Amino acid sequence: MSYKVIARKYRPQTFAEIVGQQHVTRTLANAIESNRVAHAYIFSGVRGVGKTTAARILAKALNCVNGPTAQPDGTCDSCREISAGTSLDVLEIDAASNRGIDQIRELREMVRYAPASSRYKVVILDEAHQLTDEASNALLKTLEEPPERVVFILATTRAEDLVETIKSRAQLFQFRSLTFQEISGQIEKIVKAENLKIDSGAVAVLARAAEGSLRDGLSLLEQAMAYAGDDISDAQVRELLGVVAESVLDDLVGAIAEQSSERALGLVHRLIADGQNLQHFCREAIRHFRNLLVARVCGADSELVAAPRDERPRLAEHAARFSEEDLTRFFNVLLETDDDLRRKPDPRLHLELGLLRLVNAQRLAPLEEILGDLRGDQRPAKSSQTPQGALPRATASAQSVSVSSSGAAAVRMAPSPETKLSVAPSTAPERPVSNVPVPASPPRIIARAAEDGASGLASAQLDAVKAMLQSSRLLSSFLEHATRCEIDAGEFRLFFHAENRTLTEMLPREAMERLRTAVQEVVGQPLRVCVKLDSGRAGMGRSSELRARFEEDPIVRAMLEKFGGQISRVKRPGEE
Ligand SMILES: Nc1ncnc2c1ncn2[C@@H]1O[C@H](COP(=O)(O)OP(=O)(O)OP(=O)(O)O)[C@@H](O)[C@H]1O
Ligand SMILES: [Mg+2]
Ligand SMILES: [Zn+2]
Repeated sequence: MSYKVIARKYRPQTFAEIVGQQHVTRTLANAIESNRVAHAYIFSGVRGVGKTTAARILAKALNCVNGPTAQPDGTCDSCREISAGTSLDVLEIDAASNRGIDQIRELREMVRYAPASSRYKVVILDEAHQLTDEASNALLKTLEEPPERVVFILATTRAEDLVETIKSRAQLFQFRSLTFQEISGQIEKIVKAENLKIDSGAVAVLARAAEGSLRDGLSLLEQAMAYAGDDISDAQVRELLGVVAESVLDDLVGAIAEQSSERALGLVHRLIADGQNLQHFCREAIRHFRNLLVARVCGADSELVAAPRDERPRLAEHAARFSEEDLTRFFNVLLETDDDLRRKPDPRLHLELGLLRLVNAQRLAPLEEILGDLRGDQRPAKSSQTPQGALPRATASAQSVSVSSSGAAAVRMAPSPETKLSVAPSTAPERPVSNVPVPASPPRIIARAAEDGASGLASAQLDAVKAMLQSSRLLSSFLEHATRCEIDAGEFRLFFHAENRTLTEMLPREAMERLRTAVQEVVGQPLRVCVKLDSGRAGMGRSSELRARFEEDPIVRAMLEKFGGQISRVKRPGEE
């Protein structure tokens, strides 16, 4: 028995067998039946979705002994030769390696003569967008005076790169990417035909990894067969493709739902201990949250959810834990994290920061909305991309308020009676609506109430350091988490809450060095930069200090301004 790769062995032989491209196959079949076949076609679409397959079936349909027919028999000499790639009248040319003028001239010569033994000559030009300009022009001449009984099929993954004059002389068919369902359905069919056993989870992993290309899906299946034999398990396929286990995603969802930074950081730790690729994990998380978002918006049964039936209840359950806005926000944060992971060194750090942002995203949300509002932002708040450029400092502070201090809780809980930050219920709406533009009056400056001059000075210097390091997202976000700072005995001490310990441990050496230089520049003398943890709630500073910090906070200030309120009391988290 000769060995044939799965993708070739299961190449469709009739239009009806082609999955997911009915808009193309039906039109072609009609054209053949009504004897209106064009001189030139462009088959455009991503890799592995059936372009070459459809081109060969079209050739068979034209040349079948019973043809032209939309249902070639597949058994006559002509059909068999075409399937085997030995037909003299069906030329398959890879334009990527035959892109020059000479090849096209030859081709023109060839198509001059009548077909040898068939009704039509069919020229399939693969990767047609790779032709040189000269070759394109030569081809164009041929298309302008199309020889009798010649059909050109230009297959390309980039129709937009074809010259306009060629496009205008051909009929364009856009092949679409295949859906998760179509790919998993096809994998299951083939698995059955091959008498293999496979977990439905494994099929799902393969179908997802195929990213719309059936050929890719089948190649992956083939790899899985080589790896696992004829009983393919979910775990084996995940191992093979380096895909994280669903339980890790469950954990991530749990950490976010519970808003537990600790769980989130523990998860990164575990991924590293297991030797997982962090970027890969991030992509999986994006995929998962995309599914959750779709499940939330369209229901878990929707076609658009890329998951097998038996995983859907779990998706529905995850999705129900968050609002649509939250899920959109998570999705955006993950996309940004993925970008960071791709472009910047130190993946661990960026994944940790990304997950911390996810954990805090729900708390941040109302602040972002209010900020958007204060900016007179026209963009709906739920798009919630981290505002970049417009108000970078304010955004960074939003994080500091919510992540590192009791402020976030205070602001978030504003409308409740036990509000920590009470907001005068003046004419302001109950809940700020983001798309009402607000006159851009500068927030009223509230006198700084720092009790002792030294810490006031230090905090002013910290502000100056922050301003200098604004361009570094890493350092800005690090500094925004500092609860206070002091200068003493040749040291510039930055304090953090104990819960932010990991954050303080993950600053790379160069960043620390940069921070030291900035401090020296601001203070005017070299100081050692020390990172300290506040021992606990008791060590968090007097409430007057806390109050002073909030009075200075640009967000709190802006809120007071906007709602016409005043701070009545500042409490620490957990304080009654
Ligand atoms: N729509 C489809 N229906 C059924 N099988 C398909 C389909 N698309 C791809 N396949 C499978 O993938 C293999 C490759 O498909 P094909 O060569 O037609 O892709 P293509 O679109 O020409 O890709 P490329 O752009 O890489 O040339 C086929 O042999 C078949 O097994
Ligand atoms: Mg092809
Ligand atoms: Zn035939």
